[in-house]
Amino acid sequence: MTTANIAVIGAGNMGGGLATALAAAGVEVALGVREAGGKAAALAEGRVRVLDVAAAVAAAEVVVLALPYGASVEVLQALPAAALQGKVLVDISNPVTADFQGLQLGTTTSAAEAIQAAAPGAQVVKAFNTIFAQLLAAGARQGKAPLQVFVAGDAADAKGRVHELARVLGFEPVDAGPLRNSRYLEPLGGMNIQFGFFLGWGPAAAPAWVRV
Ligand SMILES: NC(=O)c1ccc[n+]([C@@H]2O[C@H](COP(=O)([O-])OP(=O)(O)OC[C@H]3O[C@@H](n4cnc5c(N)ncnc54)[C@H](OP(=O)(O)O)[C@@H]3O)[C@@H](O)[C@H]2O)c1
Repeated sequence: MTTANIAVIGAGNMGGGLATALAAAGVEVALGVREAGGKAAALAEGRVRVLDVAAAVAAAEVVVLALPYGASVEVLQALPAAALQGKVLVDISNPVTADFQGLQLGTTTSAAEAIQAAAPGAQVVKAFNTIFAQLLAAGARQGKAPLQVFVAGDAADAKGRVHELARVLGFEPVDAGPLRNSRYLEPLGGMNIQFGFFLGWGPAAAPAWVRV
């Protein structure tokens, strides 16, 4: 797999962190934003090119949606179906309520499945939703065992590319089964938010699955 054609959509905490960490790992990144300038402009250096959303999607085979879940659906629905055909879309979202205390949907569906429905020609892969933005920089994890990134999706090739993406960033990818298992991964992300922000652990929290 080549990591040379990756786009990250959204220049917020996760998008900016992923683009910066990928660039630090030697990967060229197209950063797709709705408004150039501001924070996005500050991220545009070296290996990070800032483009509009459509151009960033067009430039990449693997597109990380670093947006709130609802915005991902809106952004995908606004693009022509042909622009998304065959793309690997990485959904990192936790579809939390505004107070971060609940999920907007779940148990019988997931944000990842809603995103897949908005882009039927693409292959959606769930990943990174249990990693806080503060832990994306390799330096924040220095000297620690690699954190696990749970990867759920229906297409083996697409999942393989996301495993590689996680490895390039210094994480341990863990196969979490089909996309519908996002119904479990998203509550896990919610629990991580509970540990991080409501139970006093701070953003150094991350879940790990252990083989005994
Ligand atoms: N923060 C974390 O630690 C963390 C951890 C795991 C997963 N996540 C998930 O990662 C995703 C991003 O979270 P975040 O913390 O990075 O959020 P954030 O800092 O608020 O950034 C969100 C980004 O989405 C962009 N955006 C919103 N609506 C858009 C639209 N319609 N079109 C284009 N861009 C749009 C915003 O652009 P503007 O700057 O133009 O408003 C902003 O750059 C969420 O789904 C979250 O659940 C976050």
